Amino acid sequence: MHRRPALVIASLALGVILGSGTAMAASGGSAHGVAATPRLPACAYLDIKTRFMSLTRWRQTSLDTRLRVGPKYIPTDLVTVGRAGVAGSGKVRRLVIDDLEAMGAAAQRAHKAIAVRSAYRSYDQQVATFAYWVRVSGRAAALRSSARPGHSEHQLGTTIDFRSASSTRAPWDYADWATTGPGRWMKNNAWKYGFVMSYPKGKSSRTCYTYEPWHYRYVGRTLAERIHDSGLTIREYLWRHYESVP
Ligand code: DAL
Ligand code: ZN
Repeated sequence: MHRRPALVIASLALGVILGSGTAMAASGGSAHGVAATPRLPACAYLDIKTRFMSLTRWRQTSLDTRLRVGPKYIPTDLVTVGRAGVAGSGKVRRLVIDDLEAMGAAAQRAHKAIAVRSAYRSYDQQVATFAYWVRVSGRAAALRSSARPGHSEHQLGTTIDFRSASSTRAPWDYADWATTGPGRWMKNNAWKYGFVMSYPKGKSSRTCYTYEPWHYRYVGRTLAERIHDSGLTIREYLWRHYESVP
């Protein structure tokens, strides 16, 4: 009789629970009893509640085209970005302010001053944002560049779209904002202050969104350094280290 090792069965069950659809990496479970990391789920437009929904788990909350939070996910500690001495408007969670202030000051010292274009967006604001991009570029393009309501990292209150302080021009109106002084400075230095570019260039198959050199998610300095050193995107890192762990 052919018997599946219990480990493989457990891993398959895990894949189903997490909605990975792929269950296990090709290698399956190892002979030493250590399960391989289930393969990163393919990009798809689903509405699976993300695993870490508590406001205290802001570092680990995975959001992508599949995973979402609900309309009631509203941070209770939102403050204006002006508290960090950075130009522009919007709100972020209080826990972002100290590192945002340090990063803004460092960019200014380097003569690459940054400003905030868009920060916290509620579920309802994301309804309007997504609808705007559908009107501007059609639904197919909007799905690739704008999160559906509940799926946006902006709803976490830890994510910021940056622009150059020297101009109010939107960062997405440049061919590639990361080739401008402030954009390049951010690409090279933001991780040192706890911010990670969520959708880097050439990684759309893994991030599920088009390249966004202006969109940074704050995860704190320790995790940002780990993600930076790993060479993985936030989505891959969170999947590997939190989402795929039972
Ligand atoms: N542009 C990103 C994907 C968002 O809407 O959150
Ligand atoms: Zn953004």
